[in-house]
Amino acid sequence: MQSNDSQAHVASTIKIASGVAIIGTGKAMPGKVVTNDDLSKNIDTNDQWINQRTGIRQRNIITEDQHVRSLAVDATNQAIENAGIKASEIDLLLCCTMTPEMNCPNTGARIVADIGATPAGAMDISAACSGFIYGLNMAYSLIKSGGYKTIAVVGTEVLSNIVDWNDRRTCVLFGDGAGTAILQATDRQEAGCLYQTMGSNGNGWQELYIPRCETDVPDNGTFSGTLNTLQMNGREVYKFAVSTFRKCVDQALAATGLKITDLDMIVAHQSNGRILESAREKLGIPEDKLYINIDLHANTSAASVPICLHELNEQKRIKSGDLVLFIGMGGGLTWGSSLWRI
Ligand SMILES: CC(C)(COP(=O)(O)OP(=O)(O)OC[C@H]1O[C@@H](n2cnc3c(N)ncnc32)[C@H](O)[C@@H]1OP(=O)(O)O)[C@@H](O)C(=O)NCCC(=O)NCCS
Repeated sequence: MQSNDSQAHVASTIKIASGVAIIGTGKAMPGKVVTNDDLSKNIDTNDQWINQRTGIRQRNIITEDQHVRSLAVDATNQAIENAGIKASEIDLLLCCTMTPEMNCPNTGARIVADIGATPAGAMDISAACSGFIYGLNMAYSLIKSGGYKTIAVVGTEVLSNIVDWNDRRTCVLFGDGAGTAILQATDRQEAGCLYQTMGSNGNGWQELYIPRCETDVPDNGTFSGTLNTLQMNGREVYKFAVSTFRKCVDQALAATGLKITDLDMIVAHQSNGRILESAREKLGIPEDKLYINIDLHANTSAASVPICLHELNEQKRIKSGDLVLFIGMGGGLTWGSSLWRI
């Protein structure tokens, strides 16, 4: 049989990672803080309605000189510094966003160039509010396979560009921001993802979507929104988020044989404070084990989980050996979870 030198070379360079660690985190919150009272000056809403139903008090919105890429670059540079690595060590960057700069090139490629990590690979992941969990799961699996050593997973969103600022049912819920986690192969065998899932149900697409043109809207004649802005059926999304959160927790525990009390922290997508609080109470999770920052940042879609992770990291509330469950759900409909031994 003919020998295949190139295959032999590839095989000899692949080293299956024994463990995967999250070695650094960062976040970028844009400069302009918009409170509920600020919103009530332009639309018929008030702080009490928003806060009681969502737990949101304020959100960050980009200033004129900021955009979805600049936020990602700031968050990723901070994560690089936090990890104590050089940008050139990054092999691949996954940019999770539903508000990309353009369809082509992908936002990730320009982030890689801006942070000085060229020629690292780059792609955008579009899974709405589940995006970062999808990215985290893929990054783990790629490193574990031995093909990559260091991967940056970025969640970055400028939702202020895609909400209808005249629609009080949606615009009060969202904010802008970015967060990054850097994953790297480690000799600590125990570190890494113990269980992961990524799911979707496209039959529910019209519960949360951004129509570009008339042909994108449901053909039942009920559409009364504005094209190119986020459309949401709040009640249906609420029910979906509550049941999905529960399912993600139950499945992760069943698959690993762990108990809810074994978890050190749950880092969940910040969809709505009420959803998170009710899940916490039903599952009997103590307050300090389910991180909530929606009061300050509102719902930042794919950015919310890495922003939470960075804040927890800053507060030294996650340490090596901890069991941390990441959960996300959103448009698609999509959902995902990732259970980690840190
Ligand atoms: C959006 C959400 C807060 C709305 O709460 P709700 O209790 O379902 O409220 P409704 O949409 O039924 O509206 C109730 C009333 O409040 C009004 N209202 C809606 N938004 C308002 C606002 N910002 N300020 C004041 N009143 C508002 C409605 O017009 C309605 O008035 P009406 O009864 O006179 O028609 C809630 O459905 C929700 O949290 N959904 C999930 C959203 C989410 O998590 N999205 C992201 C998923 S990743």
